[in-house]
Amino acid sequence: MNHPALVIKDLDFSYDSLLTLEAVNVQIENGEFVGIFGPNGGGKTTLLKLILGLLHPQKGKVLLFGLPPELARHLIGYVPQSIAFDKAFPISVEEVVMMGALRKLNWLGKYPVEVKKKARASLEKVGLSHKMKSAFGTLSGGEAQRALIARAIIDNPQMLILDEPTANIDPEGEQNIHQLLLQLNKSMTILMVTHDLQTIVDKVGKLLCVQHNVTTLAAKEICEHFALGLYHTPLSSKNHFSLPIIKGESP
Ligand SMILES: Nc1ncnc2c1ncn2[C@@H]1O[C@H](COP(=O)(O)OP(=O)(O)OP(=O)(O)O)[C@@H](O)[C@H]1O
Ligand SMILES: [Mg+2]
Repeated sequence: MNHPALVIKDLDFSYDSLLTLEAVNVQIENGEFVGIFGPNGGGKTTLLKLILGLLHPQKGKVLLFGLPPELARHLIGYVPQSIAFDKAFPISVEEVVMMGALRKLNWLGKYPVEVKKKARASLEKVGLSHKMKSAFGTLSGGEAQRALIARAIIDNPQMLILDEPTANIDPEGEQNIHQLLLQLNKSMTILMVTHDLQTIVDKVGKLLCVQHNVTTLAAKEICEHFALGLYHTPLSSKNHFSLPIIKGESP
């Protein structure tokens, strides 16, 4: 049977006594490219951690391709929010990518040849083959982010989850990453947290607005209020009259 890529049903989650996320219901189909946005502290990273099985809901459930998150880890690639790598730490780009296959290290602490081949293929997909032997700390922000994407896709996941992959990256690097993600989306479902709605609204099919609750919106329902940080549930067609959508406008 063909399961949806992601189902979240009646989920509540709290770190302490207050609910961070409440009554969350989401369904994402295989092959979708989904943008996730919302105010700081709205619960985006928390939602991703629940999807990855790094956190557990007090109520409700998460299913990835019909499986609970703990059993679906091998199907998911994850690029976390701003990894702080010590620039002076002597690690090559190739080694960073191979870290995506840590569980394949043999008892001598070496990667099998097959992992090296996969790392190379992965770097090729993100257009960084020429930097394979470079020190990771010498990469530009955009290149470093692409290397981390290569690390996340080393095992050809069915879903790639990224938490603000273009934060602190210049517009050209950002465009490159969006193009790369569109390419990867041909073979995997993509969930991406971003604050930059203007540039993704014409690339994604669906958006999740995360602000204690989660509202699913079609890209065409996004109005200019969201770009200003004024988040709200979809507007009725009557209210929409004077609110042009962002789609199609230049950033
Ligand atoms: N480990 C934690 N323990 C307690 N509270 C936490 C923890 N992590 C996050 N929170 C709180 O949960 C809420 C949601 O945080 P989260 O990091 O999911 O937001 P976010 O939407 O990703 O924000 P940002 O846009 O700044 O990345 C915030 O109020 C935050 O302070
Ligand atoms: Mg976050």
